[in-house]
Amino acid sequence: MKHVQIPEQLRAQVAEWHKKNEAVAFVPTMGNLHAGHLSLIEIARQKAARVVVSIYVNPLQFSPDEDFASYPRTLDDDLKKLEMSGIDLVFTPDTATIYPEGEHQSTFVEVPGLSQIIEGEFRPGFFRGVATVVLKLFNMVQPDYAIFGEKDFQQLLVIRKMVKDLNLPVEIIGGAIKREKDGLAMSSRNNYLSTQEREKSCLLSATLLSLRDHILQGTDLHRATQICMQTLQNHGFVVDYVTLRGVAALENVTNDDIINEKELVILAAAKMGKTRLIDNIRFVIAGQNDNKT
Ligand code: PAF
Repeated sequence: MKHVQIPEQLRAQVAEWHKKNEAVAFVPTMGNLHAGHLSLIEIARQKAARVVVSIYVNPLQFSPDEDFASYPRTLDDDLKKLEMSGIDLVFTPDTATIYPEGEHQSTFVEVPGLSQIIEGEFRPGFFRGVATVVLKLFNMVQPDYAIFGEKDFQQLLVIRKMVKDLNLPVEIIGGAIKREKDGLAMSSRNNYLSTQEREKSCLLSATLLSLRDHILQGTDLHRATQICMQTLQNHGFVVDYVTLRGVAALENVTNDDIINEKELVILAAAKMGKTRLIDNIRFVIAGQNDNKT
């Protein structure tokens, strides 16, 4: 495995692979790698002859009151895991490389609409930071494929839209959420949870699954969502949002929209203690439409 910090070295290596017609799959990360990241690397390995992983904690996607300074940085451990995973190259740029003029003096990418709703309402500037750094990384790596986890489902859709809007020659692939045995979606931020908080955190996914079941049984959406939020609060979560949307563009869904084969996603963000957790559950509503001929 090559370890590169300079974009020119990265480009030279990728150009060499492309010259030999070897496709390149890219997994961007902020490090502190866990089984969720490794599952994205596995998808990358199946997709392309060469796999590049980046590790960069991007200051532009953190607001001043968020955890940029304390975000877990575990480079030595990460490098060992990457070596074992069989990737070809790890790219670990520093901020002087990514934002030579400082992150707030740089040209940025704004994906309209999708970036302002749901997670974007609670974290203004977050998707601008993500889209900007991902475009920069795409320009440096020049991958044929890029793999993003579906835990950050809205982020995945923002990246897909950016790629479409800007005609970028990269195929975006989503990797399924990896969960702990008790259902908690894997995340580097789970490390912040105390033992007691960790025990209660699995109730986020359990409560969302129960919301899904209520919806499938035909409970009124507003009522079912209210019950879900109340349940989470009773378990000690401070809820930012629980919302049911269409998977295509995270469009709002009403009781009347619940028709045959509509693919839906429940998106949620809630704090357990100081740790903000996000999760989502995707499902299809079938058989509600009597529109038979
Ligand atoms: O999902 C992440 O880890 C980050 O948002 C990403 C895509 C690496 C951009 O910094």
